[in-house]
Amino acid sequence: MAQVARKQSMLLQFIVTFFVFLSCLNNGNAGITSTFIRSEWPATDIPLENEAFRVPNGHNAPQQVHITQGDYDGRAVIISWVTPDEPGSNKVQYGKSEKNYEFTAEGTMNNYTFYKYQSGYIHHCLVGDLEYNTKYYYKIGSGDSAREFWFKTPPQIDPDAAYKFGIIGDLGQTYNSLSTLEHYMQSGGQTVLFVGDLSYADRHQYNEIGLRWDTWGRLVERSTAYQPWIWSTGNHEIDYMPDLGEVTPFKNYLHRYATPHLASKSSSPLWYAIRRASAHIIVLNSYSSFVKYTPQWSWLRDELKQVDREKTPWLIVLMHIPIYNSNNAHYMEGESMRAVFESWFVQYKVDVIFAGHVHAYERSYRISNIRYNITSGDRYPVPDKSAPVYVTVGDGGNQEGLAGRFIDPQPEYSAFREASYGHSTLEIKNRTHAFYHWNRNDDGKKMATDAFVLHNQYW
Ligand SMILES: *[C@@H]1O[C@H](CO)[C@@H](O)[C@H](O)[C@H]1NC(C)=O
Ligand SMILES: *[C@@H]1O[C@H](CO)[C@@H](O)[C@H](O)[C@H]1NC(C)=O
Ligand SMILES: *[C@@H]1O[C@H](CO)[C@@H](O)[C@H](O)[C@H]1NC(C)=O
Ligand SMILES: [Fe+2]
Repeated sequence: MAQVARKQSMLLQFIVTFFVFLSCLNNGNAGITSTFIRSEWPATDIPLENEAFRVPNGHNAPQQVHITQGDYDGRAVIISWVTPDEPGSNKVQYGKSEKNYEFTAEGTMNNYTFYKYQSGYIHHCLVGDLEYNTKYYYKIGSGDSAREFWFKTPPQIDPDAAYKFGIIGDLGQTYNSLSTLEHYMQSGGQTVLFVGDLSYADRHQYNEIGLRWDTWGRLVERSTAYQPWIWSTGNHEIDYMPDLGEVTPFKNYLHRYATPHLASKSSSPLWYAIRRASAHIIVLNSYSSFVKYTPQWSWLRDELKQVDREKTPWLIVLMHIPIYNSNNAHYMEGESMRAVFESWFVQYKVDVIFAGHVHAYERSYRISNIRYNITSGDRYPVPDKSAPVYVTVGDGGNQEGLAGRFIDPQPEYSAFREASYGHSTLEIKNRTHAFYHWNRNDDGKKMATDAFVLHNQYW
């Protein structure tokens, strides 16, 4: 009965949403504010002992396994894991067929404390010289506690290389987070572009902060051990806690999550770029200085000159704070970065910018606000064919819940907005076409709530 009632109410909501959509069509270019009402899990973290955070069997068994791209062009991965009980081996055995490991790579290990929490032994191992478009199997740990996983390398850099990215933000560790993760894993995405705010461990106290970084690592392992997640950082990675004597920003994050920043000549793991298939992906950090003459500013200026749209037609930027956001939550927080970087985004014809931070979904039209300066010019964003599409997907499902209050009326730059949990995918077909989807968790895997064809800005 409850099932039927729920289905009926979903049908009703669909009809309502459809009519909201129709009424918007009559209204010129006006955007859509979806009124969908979702049935969500409570916004609280999954209990520590829950099966979702299961510790793998065996003494000192590797846990929290995650991989990320390890070089500029996709022929390397960095494999990271934690051995909890004693300093485990740094070795990764790998090869092209299962249980037959031709090669070995040796990584590094670190450990740290956060307040009185003592971390496990954190291993990072660069595995390079891989062949493109190839499935690799790998093994970490020793004896009965060893564990085996696999990943696939991307196609060679090529303007028409097809590739499917997932985009997830503000994930956290609630049942909604798990739902987002499971929906993403059914999407066929090959690599995640993660737009910051990973574990929300900083919402806990004292030693539980470190423990919640560990549980998050175990929660996401079901995906992160098998495909690269491209990391960018949010405010929940800062962990600046003078009351606990912890004043080094990003301490937990930086020990646990490696990025290939040296490959793009960045001086910090917090901002960098990679090329993968037909995409050039630039990762920025909203919480490191970026004004003129700072390291991040100089690096971005130089990196944008490296972009070759003949080889990688798709230019994608990741950051945590959205530049165009019409939600009450975090309203205007992106203005400082907009003032510094927006003219470059337009000049270089960035295709799409993904951000998180606001716990809702929003997509903009192609607009810019670069003509305004402090003495003259248009004070409002205007349609601009060279501007990126801005997408906010801070709707991963963390314990802070949804940001349900949008600014009314919907500003002209906002194309679609809805406060539901979900994730996006960007399916690049060739140099000219990519299919973009936003998938709401409540709808199961097949139904895209916001979908369109993204036409490349260069080709
Ligand atoms: C790292 O691990 C070693 C070996 O167990 C231990 O002696 C040391 O205190 C740890 N260091 C930190 C900073 O936790
Ligand atoms: C300020 O904006 C006006 C109008 O777009 C433009 O003519 C002027 O050159 C700008 N000034 C500076 C210093 O960029
Ligand atoms: C690129 O992909 C789109 C969508 O699948 C297709 O319609 C178009 O013909 C493709 N272009 C080329 C040159 O193959
Ligand atoms: Fe955030």
